[in-house]
Amino acid sequence: MATASRGQWSGKTGFIFAAAGSAIGLGNIWRFPYTAGENGGGAFVLVYLLFVLLIGVPVVLAELSLGRRTERNAVGAFKALFPETKWHWVGGLGVATGFGILAFYSVIAGWTLWYLWEALLGGFSGSISAEQSETMFVSLTSDPLLAIFFTAVFLALTVFVVRGGISKGIERTTKILMPLLLVILILLAIRSVTLEGGMEGLVYLFKPDFSKITFGVIMNAMGQALFSLSLGMGAMITYGSYFPKRENLPQAGAAVALFDTMIALLAGVIIFPAIFAAGVDPDGGPGLVFIVLPTIFGSMPAGSFFAIAFYALLAIAALTSTISLLEVVVAYFVDERDWKRSKAAITMGAICFVIAIPSALAAGGSDFFTNFFGSGIDFLSLQNIIWGNYSLGIGALLLCVFVGWKWGVPKALESLESGGYSMPAGNIWGVLIRYVCPLAVGLVIAFIIITQQYM
Ligand code: TRP
Repeated sequence: MATASRGQWSGKTGFIFAAAGSAIGLGNIWRFPYTAGENGGGAFVLVYLLFVLLIGVPVVLAELSLGRRTERNAVGAFKALFPETKWHWVGGLGVATGFGILAFYSVIAGWTLWYLWEALLGGFSGSISAEQSETMFVSLTSDPLLAIFFTAVFLALTVFVVRGGISKGIERTTKILMPLLLVILILLAIRSVTLEGGMEGLVYLFKPDFSKITFGVIMNAMGQALFSLSLGMGAMITYGSYFPKRENLPQAGAAVALFDTMIALLAGVIIFPAIFAAGVDPDGGPGLVFIVLPTIFGSMPAGSFFAIAFYALLAIAALTSTISLLEVVVAYFVDERDWKRSKAAITMGAICFVIAIPSALAAGGSDFFTNFFGSGIDFLSLQNIIWGNYSLGIGALLLCVFVGWKWGVPKALESLESGGYSMPAGNIWGVLIRYVCPLAVGLVIAFIIITQQYM
């Protein structure tokens, strides 16, 4: 496939923004804080940071090197190197995972649109108690039509951008809006840590209580590291495939991982002080962030302005992530099945909408999906764990085995170093990809199966 017809990033910064746009999203601002809250705070954060360093960064580089070398989508990349083997099934798993994640992610993204709508109507201008905020959250998420409607709107926006092609749509949006998001987050963090009782939140977030570490906590930390960096399903293979040969890939990859982790920690610094200041239980599940944030806006000068800016930027951050999820699926149909981009984007978006409906009904809209088969867990959380922890874990494991043992570290390094940039600590990277990453991921999954601490 000729590079020109697939499109390319305009350069290194264009790529960094686009890839950071994929990585930074609800994973950082919604999933990280509530997962940290459910898994004991500081100890989880520490394990998460270890996974980012030891697995996240090496796997980012492995995916990017494969994408850049083959200039193909998640499935085609494997086929291009070893056409006679079944390795491309790893890419197939990635395409399925992209669908699976998109189908619950767009529900949460729909919630942000609804909050944006409320903010525009002035819903966050006065002081808001945690109880009032919770009532508001429940009235939205338990309304089946509202939840489905906003999911549909969000998916339609995603389809619209992905239809337009890779660099035009994605780069332009992220270059302007990501820095703005950072500014708003910093301002919110300042407000939050100066709330009365806020310090306790920082202690909860950063002081590890090692007695809280269980296999479940480790699994969630690993899943969170992969999810937040958009790894384990070929998104970075696909994005790497649009990376110009003359630019410095290792540096760009490291920058993306750094930004993503900073934004997650910053989100924690916003949410946890506010949780403690408002007297909310950190173990509140997927609604946590949505319930806590309005209490901050209510206690801030120009709160309704901040609310509008925040929800608008969060929706856009979510959009640059859903774009990358749908792009993995669309790139596969365009490259491998010769579909037109527009047909692929619309068809896959529509199918995803149908799959998303049960998740949209899982926060009170339907009793069956809210307490799925009477299991005590809601359908959305279940999807989040199946696709966001297990499927990404298995995908990352297979990718490491592929890059480390089948394709080989020297070839991967060659791709990372093309353009004449040397890869710092290349041999350490090789050891991580061949041994440390696959063993760590494999062991975590094995222990979870043995101990049956699935969540
Ligand atoms: N990383 C994104 C977030 O944090 C979500 C996401 C986008 C993703 N593309 C992905 C997760 C690919 C896993 C794989 O919000």
